[in-house]
Amino acid sequence: MLTNLQQQPADALLALIKLHNADPRQDKIDLGVGVYRTDTGATPVFEAVKAAEKKLLEIQDSKAYLGPEGDMGFVHALMPYIFGKNDPSMGGRIDGMQAPGGTGAVRLAVALAKKAGIKRIWMGTPSWPNHAQIAADVGVEIKGYNHATKTGVADMQALRDAIAAAEPTDAIMLHGCCHNPTGIDYTNAEWDEIAGLIKAKGILPILDLAYQGLGQGMEEDAYGIRTVLAAVPEALIAYSCDKNFGYYRDRVGALYALAAQADQIGAILSNGSALARANWSMPPDHGGAVVRLILEDEALTASWLNELDVMRARMSEVRAKLGGAGTQGSVDFTPFGTQNGLFSIVPLNGEQVLAMREKHGVYMAGSGRINVAGLTMGNIDKFIAAVADVTA
Ligand code: LMR
Repeated sequence: MLTNLQQQPADALLALIKLHNADPRQDKIDLGVGVYRTDTGATPVFEAVKAAEKKLLEIQDSKAYLGPEGDMGFVHALMPYIFGKNDPSMGGRIDGMQAPGGTGAVRLAVALAKKAGIKRIWMGTPSWPNHAQIAADVGVEIKGYNHATKTGVADMQALRDAIAAAEPTDAIMLHGCCHNPTGIDYTNAEWDEIAGLIKAKGILPILDLAYQGLGQGMEEDAYGIRTVLAAVPEALIAYSCDKNFGYYRDRVGALYALAAQADQIGAILSNGSALARANWSMPPDHGGAVVRLILEDEALTASWLNELDVMRARMSEVRAKLGGAGTQGSVDFTPFGTQNGLFSIVPLNGEQVLAMREKHGVYMAGSGRINVAGLTMGNIDKFIAAVADVTA
């Protein structure tokens, strides 16, 4: 039977990691997978994480199973940051469970939506490629709409039309902040409108918050999801700590649900637990336990938030420099200056992306997406010159 299986292409984004590692050029630039980098190109472990890991090593006295919901102390400790310090459970209507990374949380959200009767999910195009892969694998139909206009703002008309065309058994997947791959987020006024439209239509929002704190700030980046949650009866929220705690390979995430009434949340999450049990049984413990230890300790929390501030400040500096480059070759870099988070799209075709890699040693996704954090004050001029060269 196994000979029926055809060779599958490697995930294009993850394959870039290997290609970049194999390139001997000293001045190569990795703008591929979304990890934060310092101005020297490093992705260090957060100091707060190191300190909490030491503490965990000392105090952890058992590795016995926790159950499919994982570390509920971790799940609850995050809630004030996501949903607001004032009544983070919205009167007991929100609760959650740990998941293996943001991907595990999205997978669980989509599977849970399907189990609840959702038939189709609306997604802005482009989106994080794994959103569509997960929906296809779970067996939910995808409906696309245009995410952004050529002038670098959200295409609100396309979104309005999509919501207007939605059916009662549809869901809509929205990026809470730091849109992946465009960096084009909704303004607060747009979120206000979106929340009203979703509420009026009665469709299920699935909100993916994978970069909180890497856009404008922890509170600012939560505006969209808090606004939607305040308006709608029900929602699913996929959360990732992989970026804002730098926990990428240890896979730290959570799924939250908002129930119409507090007495329904237990039943909803019991379905989440059943799905988790049949998929990964229970999430890896380590990262969630460490995040909990950080959030339970005032000094570690302050250190973590300070490190996030430093990351954000560096990314604004890079974005300001990019935005200030104006038009180079055929690319206008101006909008990059005001986009949000790790990503932006350089409008290059497949041949130009290949030329960036082969001729200039610049590694970026086939879509033209760059990880802005891969740019440093030492390599940004080379990157801009390479774009000018391949688009001349
Ligand atoms: C990315 O888009 O680069 C990240 O979310 C990493 C991933 O898993 O794709």
